[in-house]
Amino acid sequence: MSDIAKLQIGDNQYEFPLITGTENEVAIDIKTLRGATGGVTTIDPGYKNTGSCQSAITFLNGEEGILRYRGYSIEELAEKADFLEVAYALIFGELPTKEQLEKFHSDIKDKSIVDDDIKKIIDAFPKNAHPMGVLSSLTSALTAFNPSSVNVDSEEDMYNSVVKILGKFPVLVAWTMRKKQGLPLNYGSKSLGYVENVLKMMFEQPNEEYVQNEVLVNALDKLLILHADHEQNCSTSTVRIVGSSHAGLFASLSAGISALWGPLHGGANQAVLEMLEAIKEDGGDTKKYMAKAKDKNDPFRLMGFGHRVYKNFDPRAKIIKVAADEVLKELGVNDPILDIAKGLEQEALNDEYFVKRKLYPNVDFYSGIIYRAMGIPVEMFTVMFALGRLPGWIAQWREMRLGKEPIGRPRQVYTGENYRAFKDISNR
Ligand code: CMC
Repeated sequence: MSDIAKLQIGDNQYEFPLITGTENEVAIDIKTLRGATGGVTTIDPGYKNTGSCQSAITFLNGEEGILRYRGYSIEELAEKADFLEVAYALIFGELPTKEQLEKFHSDIKDKSIVDDDIKKIIDAFPKNAHPMGVLSSLTSALTAFNPSSVNVDSEEDMYNSVVKILGKFPVLVAWTMRKKQGLPLNYGSKSLGYVENVLKMMFEQPNEEYVQNEVLVNALDKLLILHADHEQNCSTSTVRIVGSSHAGLFASLSAGISALWGPLHGGANQAVLEMLEAIKEDGGDTKKYMAKAKDKNDPFRLMGFGHRVYKNFDPRAKIIKVAADEVLKELGVNDPILDIAKGLEQEALNDEYFVKRKLYPNVDFYSGIIYRAMGIPVEMFTVMFALGRLPGWIAQWREMRLGKEPIGRPRQVYTGENYRAFKDISNR
């Protein structure tokens, strides 16, 4: 194939170089388009065909259902690695040695104390505030308590910001949940692993010692790994674009959390469970909801189905489905919701509407079932997604800053009124 793309506009022809990635993805480099053509731009709503950056972090192939972080397959990472190793690999490019991992973990633990005044902010939220709104606000508020983490240019300053947020974020997650439940805001223990510490902070009761359950630790570890990065999705693109203005890491992450909140993105895990509950309450008639999902006059969508990139299967969903079975079995939970989910999946996989549009269960379809079995309230599901996605956001932000990417600033095609003279209010 030639390494040039040709564009004809009227009588003029323009040439643009092709860029080929390490997995042979080809892109037309249109950096010079506006200059060469005298201002012609491109239109691509939802950026379905637009590559916003070159990235060496995550590869995914939607047709073949492949997902790899730094070259390692998601299946192998979920089976063999732990979340902190994966976080290190995502952020710094290589799996850590034992010494590197120990130092990383120790630095994170050293930075995990959150300014006590943050509790006053938490106190000011109404108890029914959605945890994602609270988490986004608290993450942004961390900027005020850690001003040295804002203007970070050197790799050393970046490292310090990174370990700070990896240490403090789980505390904010736990406090967000505990406040809602009326429990005291506690800390974990430096002697615990990262994920064990998360569980202790979330679930420890004030009047009894928290006992770790290996099944829960493994399940959460796996879930966090599966959510850790997903290249240029809505929240990650948000983090990169906010960070491109050199707003600090915490402010960029706060924006990412808000983007993740939406039900078409990370908020789908909450929406899936609410949908499954509604189907159960309605007598378990999955066919009725399948019909609603296919009816173009009905806004209802089958939550947890479909993906912008995966058009064959979502490899994360495959792993999670197995994990959901394991966790429920180990915990002795018999959740009728799981049967409804499986029934719905079977129907959709054999339904022409879903097959034709290549709509398959995505990562969020089964994750909520595991979270629920673990005792995590439904409103916290997207917060758990954010906890998993944190290293991915950090890695993407760091890559963007080290790559000295320009500020993100898309163009538009204006379709409004042409110039018109101002009308005095008495004449309108
Ligand atoms: N239920 C029913 N129909 C659907 C669904 C669904 N869940 N998803 C897509 N469609 C239809 C859609 O109506 C359209 O039909 P038509 O061609 O007749 O107009 C066609 O499939 C293509 O859909 P689209 O909205 O153009 O596709 P998209 O790439 O813009 O959207 C999506 C992807 C994930 C937003 C969408 O599939 C969806 O809304 N799914 C439900 C929400 C969900 O589970 N989100 C979690 C995504 S995975 C976690 C994450 O990374 O955020």
